[in-house]
Amino acid sequence: MTAPRLGLGVALTLYLTPRIDAILRSVLDEPVLLGGLVEALGSPLGVVLPERLAGNVAAFRDVYSGHRLGGQIFFAHKANQSSALIRELAAGDAGIDVASLAELQHALGAGFAPQRIMATGPKNREFLWLCARAGVTVNADSLAELAELAALVTGRGLPRVRVMARLSGFASAGTGVASGRSRFGVPSAGLAQVLDLVEKHPEALDLVGVAFHLDTIGLPEKVVALEGCLAALDECRRRGLRPWSVDAGGGFGVDYLADAAQWERYTSELTRAVLGRRPPLTWRGHGYGLRNEGGTVRGALGLYPAHRPVAGAAYLDRLLRAAGPSHGRPLGELLLDNMYDLHVEPGRALLDQCGMVLATVLEVRDDDGDTVVRLDLNARDVSLEEHGVLMDPVVVHRGSRAADRPVDVYLFGNLCLEADLVTRRRVSLPSRPRPGDLLAFVNTAGYFMDFSATHALRQPIGRKVAMYRDGGAWRWCLDEQYWPLHPRAEAP
Ligand SMILES: Cc1ncc(COP(=O)(O)O)c(C=O)c1O
Repeated sequence: MTAPRLGLGVALTLYLTPRIDAILRSVLDEPVLLGGLVEALGSPLGVVLPERLAGNVAAFRDVYSGHRLGGQIFFAHKANQSSALIRELAAGDAGIDVASLAELQHALGAGFAPQRIMATGPKNREFLWLCARAGVTVNADSLAELAELAALVTGRGLPRVRVMARLSGFASAGTGVASGRSRFGVPSAGLAQVLDLVEKHPEALDLVGVAFHLDTIGLPEKVVALEGCLAALDECRRRGLRPWSVDAGGGFGVDYLADAAQWERYTSELTRAVLGRRPPLTWRGHGYGLRNEGGTVRGALGLYPAHRPVAGAAYLDRLLRAAGPSHGRPLGELLLDNMYDLHVEPGRALLDQCGMVLATVLEVRDDDGDTVVRLDLNARDVSLEEHGVLMDPVVVHRGSRAADRPVDVYLFGNLCLEADLVTRRRVSLPSRPRPGDLLAFVNTAGYFMDFSATHALRQPIGRKVAMYRDGGAWRWCLDEQYWPLHPRAEAP
């Protein structure tokens, strides 16, 4: 289906154009190279850009300098399994947050010294043992975990372990803001039990700080949680303990879209579509959480705010400038006054602009009024939809292209499964792809590349390459063969 048009020849396309920086753009400008890679290594193909990481780390460091704060930036490894990315990080000064035994082994093998590693999330005995043996800081997720760690250290004669206590369920008197319930961490009201345990095992546990990670983008909740951690450190001091750091977790976010107006227009048109005031924008009228109840929209939009003007390092800055409700002073100042270190664990934000997923177009057909693009990848190979991120792919034409007219398409995946739509949204593309062309799902290194990929139907999980510049030209290697030994490229 060619995109519908208003009178005056204005297309009704609802683009959600991705934000693409110069480095990522210059990779997209290499259709022959990208096409050759997919031919050789198969579709889908993950592409990571290790050199892009340094700028993201530097942006966080600048915020630290601006607030005169010390502490570490721990990359949340879970956001991408790439070896190239973490080896590149190991070559710089960032740390790494590992959430499984395998991630810890991977980080150690990539060159991270144990002092630069923080272990988070729920942990089994083997994971705890390797943390303790290697000297990795354990961000304890529950009282039981802390008790198990103490017993392990004592029973096995392991060295004393640096621990942080992850807290949750913060509330702020007076403001009505609470940090919400989490399945992770010790409820902040239970801090006394944590401290009792630490005091009971001084030879095993060295409490260095308190932590939180909130699965929200809401600033008020994070403000309450950060202030709650400062109160927890006060309590530690009252009891004669001397932890000196707060770990504010991750969740700083990414701004995925180039144009705020497109996002606003899309969401308001979606609402109109749900109300039946315009033709559907989605497969079978899916409402992304919205529904029509007697002419009124009900429900909540279950989407990531793909346009986020304040994201990544800028979000951290905003948090540190925010006044804690009890003290009425900026949180950054409170941390500085107490000479506390601030740690953060950004995953998604450190991978902004660091990669893309490529997929081959297998078929383009007009079907009952819709245009369908069948791809050689499935919804789990690029899990934008699962994570609620709506953002257009880029068409990488190989060879001659059809007329550059916009087209609205549905993107079908390669699973023999009715539900396998790469996105349920009808996607507007500026030009019609042809079989053999590629669709590039850009800026997908954070969570969308390999977090959800499976071997369903015995199909292989996409391979991954690292691309790097050498003398102005893009070169590549398999992800596992990348080591940070290449000369640093000049900005394009
Ligand atoms: C403990 C912890 N830290 C950090 C992160 C990273 O979050 P993000 O990728 O949103 O920055 C997560 C994500 O689940 C987490 O659970």
